[in-house]
Amino acid sequence: MTSVISATGLWTPEQSISNAELVESFNAYVDKWNNENAAEIEAGDKDALAHSSAEFIEKASGIKSRFVISKDAILDPERMAPHIPARSNDEPSILAEIAVNAAKIALQKAGRKPEDVDAVIVACSNLQRGYPAIAVEVQHLLGTSGFAFDMNVACSSATFGIETARGLIAGGQAKSILVCSPEICTAHLNFKDRDAHFIFGDVATAVLLEHVDIAPAEHWDVIGSKLVTQFSNNIRNNFGFLNSAAPEDDGLYGERGRKGLTDKLFVQNGRSVFKEVVPMVAKMITEQCVANGLDPHELKRMWLHQANLNMNVLIAKKVLGKDVDISKAPVVLDEYANTSSAGSIIAFDKYSDDFKNGETGLICSFGAGYSAGAIFVRRVD
Ligand code: COA
Repeated sequence: MTSVISATGLWTPEQSISNAELVESFNAYVDKWNNENAAEIEAGDKDALAHSSAEFIEKASGIKSRFVISKDAILDPERMAPHIPARSNDEPSILAEIAVNAAKIALQKAGRKPEDVDAVIVACSNLQRGYPAIAVEVQHLLGTSGFAFDMNVACSSATFGIETARGLIAGGQAKSILVCSPEICTAHLNFKDRDAHFIFGDVATAVLLEHVDIAPAEHWDVIGSKLVTQFSNNIRNNFGFLNSAAPEDDGLYGERGRKGLTDKLFVQNGRSVFKEVVPMVAKMITEQCVANGLDPHELKRMWLHQANLNMNVLIAKKVLGKDVDISKAPVVLDEYANTSSAGSIIAFDKYSDDFKNGETGLICSFGAGYSAGAIFVRRVD
């Protein structure tokens, strides 16, 4: 064991959208669309669109609101997509900017200066460009030394990033690494899709990993870990440089966007994800507890990926028994919605202050790929 978690940072956008606000905008869009297409609907050539409901959203997912970078544009029934103005190459990119916000909080908590850090990994689902790497820009904006690179393992990017950082520290490449997960998930969400329009929010997190020799007295030992992937098309986003140059009227958020181009945004078969990922993750956690000589009941907390409340309750029950105290798997998705790779790190950041020396917990991610990551941590005071 050469590396530990020294601190985490959480940056939250100022604006938030409640389910009621989101549904009002969606239903206004539906009414307008149905009105404009009334003749075809009447003739049976088109299906009328159905209203969304705040009750369904909360019951099916546990989500009550989401933080966003661009509230008004998302809620505008004429647009229903964030408006994030393009920036010149001389300005910091938005993803680097919010990653830096989270990184500064982590550094301040650990009592570190940027020059103390010798690598940056930006690990997230939603990278805004091919190159230069966002991480190299974060390195430049923060003033860290060494090297930096981006990586993407969808919702498991942060846990895979932590493991990558641990490997680099063990291999002697660096002694102090920031793993940043800036997630602007609203930009890959189709807000006109009733099945999914409520799912995502925006956020940025950072995790500072350091060689145990230089770590602060208060830190988290990593006592075991496991990474798993298994191919699935049930969560997919086909956006990329080979297909991003759609003509104006074929644009991602235009009419064709609903019908032809939605797979350039987030698409999922939510039911199948639920059914397939719950057993996969419960098995991984249970097996890894055994592999690390842990009774699962020794886990004071499981900071699980935040996609669906019912999914987390089921995983907690499979691992800890049906009478489990659900506060052992704290929820942040009620306020943040799904923030992809950042979700389990937000939960860890917000619900770990009460840990005492020697107490153990689990950071666990799961999502597209499929991908899953388990990081067992033990508090050292
Ligand atoms: N408002 C009202 N009703 C809605 C609705 C909405 N916004 N969206 C769907 N419905 C309706 C459907 O039409 C369906 O109606 P029917 O039974 O008459 O056909 C019913 O609600 C159930 O829809 P379904 O899609 O089966 O809901 P669900 O219970 O599976 O919940 C998810 C949907 C997405 C919340 C849930 O499947 C989920 O979270 N899965 C896991 C996803 C996940 O982890 N993804 C990882 C992403 S990174």
